Amino acid sequence: MKNRIAVIPGDGIGQEVAQAGVKVLEAISQKKGLNLSFKWFDLGADRYLKTGETLPQPVFDELSTSFDAIYFGAVGDPRVPDMKHAKDILLGLRMRLDLYINLRPVQLYHEELTPLKNKGVSDIDMVIFRENTEDLYVGMGGNFKMNTVDEIAINEMVSTRKGVERIIRAAFDWAVSHGKTRVCMTDKANAISYAHGLWQRVFKEVSKEYPQITPRHVYADALAMELVRAPEDFDVIVASNLLGDILSDLGAQLVGGLGLAASANIHPNRVSLFEPVHGSAPTLAGKNLANPFAMVLTGALMLDFLGYADESKRLEALVKSCIDDKITTTDLGGKLGTQEMADYMVSLVDRFF
Ligand code: NAD
Ligand code: IPM
Ligand code: MN
Repeated sequence: MKNRIAVIPGDGIGQEVAQAGVKVLEAISQKKGLNLSFKWFDLGADRYLKTGETLPQPVFDELSTSFDAIYFGAVGDPRVPDMKHAKDILLGLRMRLDLYINLRPVQLYHEELTPLKNKGVSDIDMVIFRENTEDLYVGMGGNFKMNTVDEIAINEMVSTRKGVERIIRAAFDWAVSHGKTRVCMTDKANAISYAHGLWQRVFKEVSKEYPQITPRHVYADALAMELVRAPEDFDVIVASNLLGDILSDLGAQLVGGLGLAASANIHPNRVSLFEPVHGSAPTLAGKNLANPFAMVLTGALMLDFLGYADESKRLEALVKSCIDDKITTTDLGGKLGTQEMADYMVSLVDRFF
């Protein structure tokens, strides 16, 4: 079993939810003898502003060779408006560790949490496979005649045959291994003909290898509408980096908000990174208001990746029971602060494990 975890709390509420998440995982590890070890890394806006360092090479080397997983809070700080540190740390780890699968479950735990009328827990249960190493995120481009009236700003949108194929394949494989029957690919090939034309061709080709799965294509604008109109029509969605980013926040709100949305940045069989979908939420930071459920559910995804499938399911059930009992942070209508919520979850470990 794998058990070496690097913790990068990062900025803002990332700090608070990381404390909470590790507290819960430590309690589980102790109860079940999992022997999880946690090493904390000080990476984020404070360090960048103090020292100019974002992700120093020795730290990257250690992260890539000495750990099984990285448990990541969030990055983003109003004092660093160009997100320089976040580009190096979060996008840097995704690209340099080649974490090509960004898996983002959209699962409704209680019908009262969705803003949609007449939709229940069986209607909203899907997973978004977001490509995580290409697209507009590669940082290719530049500015010409910056800060003049003639300025030109370019970001290149990159799709490779290899990159598109491996994420589409991952989506199909996941559907098969999880007993799902529908994979929907979304793009804007009607406007972005070269890059997304490639997505269309590869999707058609790969889908032929999976006769047990019903493939579907929906343009991304229409998909934003369909996800609100009929979320029950979707099991697995596969999308490019930017479209997947946008759709995953939409998905988060369908199930109760960013306080509940977990995500995994995976390269199968290599060190992978687990972080909630939400960011550093500067307006909530330092106030003990952030919902730690997204971070704890992200911990459940990490446990599954480390080989603890049963513990992962139990942790999810523990969170669900808090929601059922209406013992939550204020964003979900409850009264608890971040750390009190974590302590309450720890108090349930004996019952659920
Ligand atoms: P955000 O996800 O940080 O917050 C948006 C809103 O969602 C918040 O104002 C809050 O109302 C709510 N929210 C988010 N997480 C919550 C939680 N755990 N509990 C309760 N409510 C929660 O998005 P933003 O405000 O657009 O971004 C803030 C900073 O975070 C920016 O710098 C952004 O670039 C960065 N960001 C980082 C990540 C990441 O590290 N993975 C993800 C998204 C945004
Ligand atoms: C996410 C975030 C990041 C992204 C930002 C912080 C660069 O929104 O993890 O969803 O766009 O991938
Ligand atoms: Mn995002």
